[in-house]
Amino acid sequence: MQAASRRTSVLRREAVLATVPVAVAALLAAAGPASASTVGGSGAGDPYFPLSGNGGYHVGHYDLTLRYDTTSRHLDGTAVLSARATQRLTRFDLDLKGLKVTRVTVDGRTARFSRNGQELVVTPSRALAKGREFHVAVSYNGTPGPVTDPDGSADGWIPTDDGAFVAGEPQGAMTWFPANSHPKDKSSYDFTITVPKGRTAVANGVLVGQHTSAGRTTFRWRQSEPMAAYLATATVGKFTVQQYTTRDGIKVYNAVDPREANGSASVLKELPSVLDWESRLFGPYPFRSAGAIVDHAPSVGYALETQGRPIYDSAPDLSTLVHESAHQWFGDSVSLTAWKDIWLNEGFATYAEWLYSEQHGGDSAQKTFDALYAKPAGDALWAYPPGDPGSGKNIFGEPVYARGAMALHELRGAVGDTVFFRILRAWAGEHRYGHGTTAQFVKLAEGQSGVDLGSLFQTWLYKKGKP
Ligand code: TRP
Ligand code: ZN
Repeated sequence: MQAASRRTSVLRREAVLATVPVAVAALLAAAGPASASTVGGSGAGDPYFPLSGNGGYHVGHYDLTLRYDTTSRHLDGTAVLSARATQRLTRFDLDLKGLKVTRVTVDGRTARFSRNGQELVVTPSRALAKGREFHVAVSYNGTPGPVTDPDGSADGWIPTDDGAFVAGEPQGAMTWFPANSHPKDKSSYDFTITVPKGRTAVANGVLVGQHTSAGRTTFRWRQSEPMAAYLATATVGKFTVQQYTTRDGIKVYNAVDPREANGSASVLKELPSVLDWESRLFGPYPFRSAGAIVDHAPSVGYALETQGRPIYDSAPDLSTLVHESAHQWFGDSVSLTAWKDIWLNEGFATYAEWLYSEQHGGDSAQKTFDALYAKPAGDALWAYPPGDPGSGKNIFGEPVYARGAMALHELRGAVGDTVFFRILRAWAGEHRYGHGTTAQFVKLAEGQSGVDLGSLFQTWLYKKGKP
């Protein structure tokens, strides 16, 4: 369903472009191939999610002002994006699904806009030159809800009985703010979120202000380090809050649904020691803020590594806390450039769980590997290779998590512990706040070890069936 309707809108878009008047087409052609179009692309070029993200500009900062009524479930929003044109733009897209847009301005001037599926198409009153910095302000409102992912799970703004569980991987950011919603584009964020008094709104980064008046409380959050849109949250609920600063100076903010307090207290107590242990393994924790959002959202069925402050749909166990914490290095600080490379997130976070167990009196990574390797050739674990899941439907499947971790264990066996842990630290360090591809990881591992690892990765990441 989802994929079919996307395909339809892509085709419709091409049909529109095909009717560009001949004179304009000639002008565009005369401008040369590099600047053939002044229309920003409707996607970031990711085959798994063709309409996620957009072409033609980079967003440096999002300033989101939201007001959520937990009774009517109505959201009022203003998003101000500070962006830079990477090409001349007469028109560009933002991703926004559902919701009603009431006004768009570009640099303070009213801009024309239209909607086409998940694309909000903006035509500024004056063309934007390549390299130009500009501000887009979008006013919008409505009753947000989740998107259904190709694998059937819900992602985005997910209403709960006391607010909303907000988690946007891989494509849900567009359900609650207009975005350049692909991990290729990373930005800093300011959030100003107003909710009924008694509810708490938790976003990413550091809490920089909170005040209550006329029955409403406004929370101001600031995420200074670059963040992919899917890692943003603005979760609302009745939460018990705990705040402290770690010995390393990291500001911790935990928000726990009272119904999950008993189940999560002992695990949350471990957060500083888990971050400390991971910092020793992977290098310095990348962010100035940390914490957890432990919601009571039984329908969700997963946790997400929302930047700096992972979100859990119920009280997490310790290995889930270790997993989401490891994502802060692998996935959040070092981001994907394509969803196909998802094993760089999930394989690494899963391997962190194995390492944690090994170093804390549990099963060794070898034992975990062996138990998985014993699974017969027909098992779901071997259904597709982790380095090439084939479609967005498979990105959160067992081969990505478990066989992705097995690939790292094989690497460790091939290069030895000292070099292996040096590789992990170099990966997190060299790509900190940026991006990394599988090809870059293989190259780095070969550079650090001096070993030709081509066939190891070929076998474990790309070979069909049980290696
Ligand atoms: N990335 C999450 C994790 O492994 C899992 C996740 C996020 C997920 N969104 C999802 C799983 C959607 C299934 C469907 O921590
Ligand atoms: Zn994960």
